[in-house]
Amino acid sequence: MSLKTITDISISKVEKSKIDTFDFENVSFGGAFTDHMLVCSYKDGVWGQVEIKPYGPIQLDPSARVFHYGQAIFEGMKAYKDSNDEVWLFRPEENFNRFNKSAIRLAMPEIDSERFIGGLKALLNIEKDWVKKGKGNSLYIRPFMIATESGVIAGPSKEFMFCILLSPAKSYYAGKVKVQIAEHYSRAANGGVGAAKCSGNYAAQFYPTQLAQKEGYQQVIWTDDATHTKLEEAGTMNVFFRINDTLFTAPTSERILDGVTRKSIVELAKHIGLDIQVKTVLVEEIIAAAKNGSLKEIFGAGTAAVVSQIEGFAFQDAYYALPEMQDSESFALIIKDKLTGIQNKAELDPFNWTEKI
Ligand code: COI
Repeated sequence: MSLKTITDISISKVEKSKIDTFDFENVSFGGAFTDHMLVCSYKDGVWGQVEIKPYGPIQLDPSARVFHYGQAIFEGMKAYKDSNDEVWLFRPEENFNRFNKSAIRLAMPEIDSERFIGGLKALLNIEKDWVKKGKGNSLYIRPFMIATESGVIAGPSKEFMFCILLSPAKSYYAGKVKVQIAEHYSRAANGGVGAAKCSGNYAAQFYPTQLAQKEGYQQVIWTDDATHTKLEEAGTMNVFFRINDTLFTAPTSERILDGVTRKSIVELAKHIGLDIQVKTVLVEEIIAAAKNGSLKEIFGAGTAAVVSQIEGFAFQDAYYALPEMQDSESFALIIKDKLTGIQNKAELDPFNWTEKI
């Protein structure tokens, strides 16, 4: 059985919290952090004691492997506060399991749930005041692991640091975004690291995304590397397409991240009676549907953004605008509302996805 409470922990607190100086009304995603962070080191084949200490710089040797070979993984999670001031996590076991899958793929040590989930709950208990109530408010959680052993030999590190940071969050993207379908660059390849949440996956997106941005698109819809005919992810999110009244999303694979929001949407959509199919979606199907008017919506889904509506997409030299619709008719918004309602405890959670800290 997995342990989710932590007994061996060292805690040192800040003398004075900076919470009074933080502007919760004007939050930009990931730009500011709470008073404390969690740190735990791995050496000689074992994880050490979990420490909670004031948020601040960490010292590493310049030859630490993470700087040279990118041996680094992370997760994205959120904590929510209900109307009774209780703090909740959303499906933390999913993130914990995926973190360890990413660790295996990047030749890093797995971590136990006592340190990951138990440590996170201890940190959240100290930082409870940073979790704000109400729709759209949450505390973004960023667990990560980096290779800290010094030496530029190109082999896996034997020393690592696991860390958790907390950052107050509202929405990730402001409004709808325009996207470009990738025809040359790829996010992932079979046999590669696309299904792992490793840092390099995101760094590799920056340059193609900058090129798309120069042409007026905020994000890239990633296609399969071999043929560029299959639609796989949107920016840093999984992607959903609505043709008439059916939702489609690609099956997870070696190239596609097994998103917690993605899998929750698939279950939730079925639960509320929407027709949803997990199947490969082709670029040509979407173009045909856009041309004949049956393509109603495209949206990205991820922890940070929850659901991000797309207003149109470019492919080759053509731009396809999606139809305008009332908010009440949008599957993206219906799903977003239900999901955030469950996460914030404003709605019943028939799936038992939420877990009190
Ligand atoms: C998340 O949605 O949590 C992610 O990890 C995406 C991140 C790049 C903000």
